Order: sequence, then structure tokens, then C-alpha cells
Amino acid sequence: MSTSRPAILLMQPFMKPIEAGLDEAYEVHRVFSAQGRDELSAEIAASVRGVVTGGALGLPRPLMDKLPKLEIIGVNGIGTDAIDLKEARQRGIHVTTTPNVLTDDVADMAMGLILATSRQLCTGDRFVRSGRWLNGGFSISRKVTGKRLGIVGLGRVGRAIAKRAEGFSMRIAYTDIRAFDDVAYQFVPTLEGLAQDSDILVVAASGGAGSQGLVSRRIMNALGPDGILINVGRGSIVDEPALVAALSEGSLGGAGLDVFTDEPNVPKAMWEMDKVVLQPHHASATVETRLTMGELILANLAAHFGGKPLLTAVT
Ligand code: DGY
Repeated sequence: MSTSRPAILLMQPFMKPIEAGLDEAYEVHRVFSAQGRDELSAEIAASVRGVVTGGALGLPRPLMDKLPKLEIIGVNGIGTDAIDLKEARQRGIHVTTTPNVLTDDVADMAMGLILATSRQLCTGDRFVRSGRWLNGGFSISRKVTGKRLGIVGLGRVGRAIAKRAEGFSMRIAYTDIRAFDDVAYQFVPTLEGLAQDSDILVVAASGGAGSQGLVSRRIMNALGPDGILINVGRGSIVDEPALVAALSEGSLGGAGLDVFTDEPNVPKAMWEMDKVVLQPHHASATVETRLTMGELILANLAAHFGGKPLLTAVT
């Protein structure tokens, strides 16, 4: 194996063709566990020029500090909240993400969660599988078509959700840091106002300090006992203990969640709740999209190490 190839730290498994592409061009060091990362030898750390990681995992700052030659971080996702961007900028480390290519999948997941939560698809499935149907009928669920949808964050994903929701004749409103004049959806300046006026509230915003705990108990109360909260953004945006309390007390109708505060640790109380649909943070995890995302990472790395402009750099 040639030692002249740039050394890359691979933080989590990727699809086979993507890992093969990495192995072909780079000296790949796989550190898929926290322990592996902690035990990374000083010699390897000193050689690493690139990190390939996931959006949720990012690059923990202590590890970043151990990589003096780091030049580029390729994120398999659009979230950069788990990377110290300020430090990256100061050190001249490039950060790339995979925008656009995952938008449809994340929006599809949001719609899936809306349908699964409102129409009790997962509990219905469990009802049939457990043989309980043989003893009587299943409870009736909530209609989706025509509902009032509130979108928190009208970025690419938020807009793709809105487009899909139009197909369900939903009345669409949103909140964001400002109103957008290129959409016909109603802008609501406050999250509380949006929640009050929604049957279903979908979080499609980015994580990070600015959105931490944005969906508080007050917002859940505004959504109300028949309201449904969907989160395909980041777990940190929702006050999770407050969510568990609101669901247990019945002051919130249900929740469909793909993201959590401390993944993969999902509050145990939620495991037992039929009104909650849980997913293992895999909104973009389809074969098609994960391949395209991985190819984009490969292309960004090739551009960087080939001295060409990056395709999707975070600016
Ligand atoms: C993202 O795009 O950041 C996804 O959440 C994957 O982590």
C-alpha cells in the first residue's frame, strides 16, 4: 500500500462502493466506535488530512484537536451542528456537506411520519401481527388530508415537505427567520403562533445553538392535545423531557420522530407509547440517496486533493 496517499479518518461505515472508492484513493483509517476514536494512535492522528463522517456524529472537538494536518471534513448529510465550524475556519479546514441530494428523502420521511402517526400505521401493524384483530377491531385514527400543517424552517427540506403536503390538500404555513416572497404559504412570525394554528407541526430546521430547545413545553401546549409533532431536523431542537411529559399527560396528541437528543438513546418512556412513531435517524438512508451522497463526498475529496474547487463547501 502506497504511503503517499492522503490519510483519511472514516468515522462511520458507508456503502460498499463508497468505501471501495475511498480505499482506492486514500489511506483509510476506520474508527467506527467512540473507543476506537479515543484510542487512535498519535502516529495515525498526525498523518490524517481528511475526515469523512456523518451529520449527526460530526467531528468531536477533542478529536479535531488531535489532527494537526487536517485539511478537509466531508459530512455525509447537511447538518454541521456537530462540527466546530469556527475552529475549522480558523484552522483553514474545509467542510463539505451533501445538500440537495437528500432533500426528497427527508421530505418523504416527514410525510411518512405524518401518515404513520396520524393513521396509526405502526400500531395497526403491531395489532395485526399480535393476533389482536381476531378478538375485535382496532381504534380509529386521525385524518391527514386537509389538515393545517406548520413547518418550522422553510429551507430546501421544508419546501419539499410543503410541496408534498399540497398533494394532501393541506393548508400550509411556516415560520423561519424571515418571510420568503417566492412562496404562497402563510408566514407566521412566531413559533408559538404557528403551533397554535397547526394540527401538525413539522420541524425541518437545522440544529445548533440557535435552535436548541426551540420546541419547548409552551410550543407543545400551543399545538394541543390533538396536535402532532414531527421532527426530521435535529433532536436538540425539541425539549425531549418536556415532550415525554406532554405525551404522557395527554397535552400533546402524538409525535413522529427521526431524530433525538442523545442518539441512539431514545427515552425509554417513548418505547411504550403507541402515539409515538420512532425512527433511527435514517431519513436520508435510502440506497439511491446514500450512494449519491457518498459519491459527492468522494468528488469533494478528489477535488480538494487534486487542487480543484470544492463542489459543496460550507461557506
Ligand atoms: C443530515 O443531513 O445532517 C442528516 O441528519 C444526517 O445526519
